[in-house]
Amino acid sequence: MKISLGSDHAGFEQKEQLRAYLEQLGHDVCDRGCYSEDRVDYPDIAKLVAGDVSQGLAERGVLVCGTGIGMAMAAGKVHGVRAANVTSQEFATLSREHNDANVIALSGRFVDLEENERILDVFLATDFAGGRHAGRVDKI
Ligand code: RB5
Repeated sequence: MKISLGSDHAGFEQKEQLRAYLEQLGHDVCDRGCYSEDRVDYPDIAKLVAGDVSQGLAERGVLVCGTGIGMAMAAGKVHGVRAANVTSQEFATLSREHNDANVIALSGRFVDLEENERILDVFLATDFAGGRHAGRVDKI
């Protein structure tokens, strides 16, 4: 799957590790930064990743900041992007089945790497359930 990936400084370390994990699984990953632990503003990175998804350059987006909250807020402003701040595997499932989330915003400070890998496994493997959820998503 073509995936656009990004983080701010607070998510940088996990973003690097998650890029390696996704590539090891065979995904085509576009790394939109940041590229060091120097401070950056998370909305700038969210805009790049969300733009890739909005324009069809990537099927899914993955963002990492301290909490995932700011990234989800910023990415969700981009037309066609449904960004979910996810901190558990169950929420990853529901973000796909009920909300057809196309961008996931992870916490690099409060969720460990192993759990974020499992969360990504679920996010990438789970289909939108459609049905009664489709009309609701259309209203967003
Ligand atoms: C950076 O300190 C922090 O505010 C950011 O990574 C993120 O958690 C914002 O939502």
